[in-house]
Amino acid sequence: MDKNIFMQDGSAFKVGLFGYLHDGGVSLTTVKERWSATWDDIARMATYADENGLDFLLPYARWTGIPGEIPQRTWSFETLAHSAALAGRTKRIGVFSTVHTPIIHPVIAAKMMATIDHASHGRAGVNIVCGWNQDDFDMFGIEGLPHDERYRHGREWFEIWSRLMSGSFEPFDYDGDHFKGIRKAAARPGSVQRPWPLVISAAYSPAGRAFAMETSDYLLTVAENLDAARREIAALESLEGAGARAEPLKPIAVCYAVCRETREEAEAFHRYYAEENADNVAVDYWIAGRQTNAMLPEAIYKMRTRIAGGNTNFPLVGSPKDVADELIALHEAGFSGAGIGLLDYVADLPILVEKVMPILAKAGLRV
Ligand SMILES: Cc1cc2nc3c(=O)[nH]c(=O)nc-3n(C[C@H](O)[C@H](O)[C@H](O)COP(=O)(O)O)c2cc1C
Repeated sequence: MDKNIFMQDGSAFKVGLFGYLHDGGVSLTTVKERWSATWDDIARMATYADENGLDFLLPYARWTGIPGEIPQRTWSFETLAHSAALAGRTKRIGVFSTVHTPIIHPVIAAKMMATIDHASHGRAGVNIVCGWNQDDFDMFGIEGLPHDERYRHGREWFEIWSRLMSGSFEPFDYDGDHFKGIRKAAARPGSVQRPWPLVISAAYSPAGRAFAMETSDYLLTVAENLDAARREIAALESLEGAGARAEPLKPIAVCYAVCRETREEAEAFHRYYAEENADNVAVDYWIAGRQTNAMLPEAIYKMRTRIAGGNTNFPLVGSPKDVADELIALHEAGFSGAGIGLLDYVADLPILVEKVMPILAKAGLRV
């Protein structure tokens, strides 16, 4: 099979769902309408997205939660198991697994992803996360590596994983700085997709972007506004290694949507959950953790409403036309797609499918 059957229907702009595998989804709010992430709701969301032409499902990987006024992100499912389960319930949508390289051994990840890729007939993808959150690592007794070293570890992880995914009939040995003493590693079968499943990663730092350039098909990213996004996308094109790739590294905007029949309704609901009922304890905790361990653009830490509303992602708040116009603007800025979070992924999805997607199709962004 040629590389990657999913996300290849010719749509100029890919649309998927993002961040739904734990309670609260992308939000940090206390309202009763927040996403509770029961498995049956996740399955309902996935089936609806699959039947209505969305391109991908992409969860965050969370192990532990965030302290807040109420417990946040303490209820979460595991992403590889989630992909295997959703592969059996869906027919055409791509199912990404978000994998922490310090936690999940590449041989296990390869074996599991080969299973998912066969079960889904070539719809598995991986979001590689080299890790930043010590709270997650503490559950495993792992101490996080210094920032740039995480990506050297991740590069070795990717070498082993990709070699196994491409079907390693000849066993090989591997001795790196981080993964050592691997003997006679082999994998049959490899993935259905060739040479391996679609790869996404996400980072702002130079080391993280270099890692994405070397390993990934898509880069998940966000920016404080469209101008900053345009500058970032232009910078990607001039990164070392960009010229050597068969295809450019394609940026996907992480977003969150509050779409209602009118702009007033959408803005009022956004104010209600992301301002009046923001979980400020969780927002403070979120900011402190990221400031210590990850490199985000400085301006983002000040955007409390965006953190509470959608984990700093691009806000798409308004009528169907407003939301479609924002997505079209993201496309014009150079994004290849959007991963969208919702406050309630079951209740809030139909308006996107029924009213926003047709506008995108009319504008030539969707097949
Ligand atoms: C859109 C997006 C999604 C991410 N998803 C996860 C995730 O699911 N789990 C996680 O631990 N980190 C996640 N991260 C964190 C990144 O993988 C990365 O570790 C972090 O942004 C720090 O990178 P940097 O300091 O190299 O820029 C995500 C980041 C972004 C921007």
